Amino acid sequence: MDDDDFVKWDDKYSVGIQLIDDQHKELISLTNALFRGCLAGPEEAKAYFSETIQGAVDYVKYHFSAEEKILEEIKFPGYENHKSQHKSFIVKILTDVRSFEEGKKFVPNAFVRYLRDWILSHIAVMDKQYADYMQQNNITLGHINPGILAKSGGA
Ligand SMILES: [Fe+2]
Ligand SMILES: [Fe+2]
Repeated sequence: MDDDDFVKWDDKYSVGIQLIDDQHKELISLTNALFRGCLAGPEEAKAYFSETIQGAVDYVKYHFSAEEKILEEIKFPGYENHKSQHKSFIVKILTDVRSFEEGKKFVPNAFVRYLRDWILSHIAVMDKQYADYMQQNNITLGHINPGILAKSGGA
């Protein structure tokens, strides 16, 4: 584990929607916190995970739901595919978390690496696609019903 395991927000990740950028920043800081939790050793990592993992999963779900509401609202053509990518990720991490809770084989370090790599590449590739779509079609936050944003997630 070294400095490379920690992720720094970069403006290249921006999707041009403040609310979503803020949520992405929060996701990055969550994975950094989980990495920090792994640093102290396997037992400490387990203790840290039992305290924090559910909150992290809930935040991921909250973010996906907020994002999907926006994609639906802006009629993003890749909506269904995007939604199903979110869904398979949730299924995968919930399976891992269940293994962890049941005391089955679970490697915190590997889990956090998976989480970090998936989230970063998803933001850089998939989320970038709707950012580009919005830019090409001159869709701004002003086109999005503020009620959607206010209700988004419902965590
Ligand atoms: Fe996202
Ligand atoms: Fe996404």
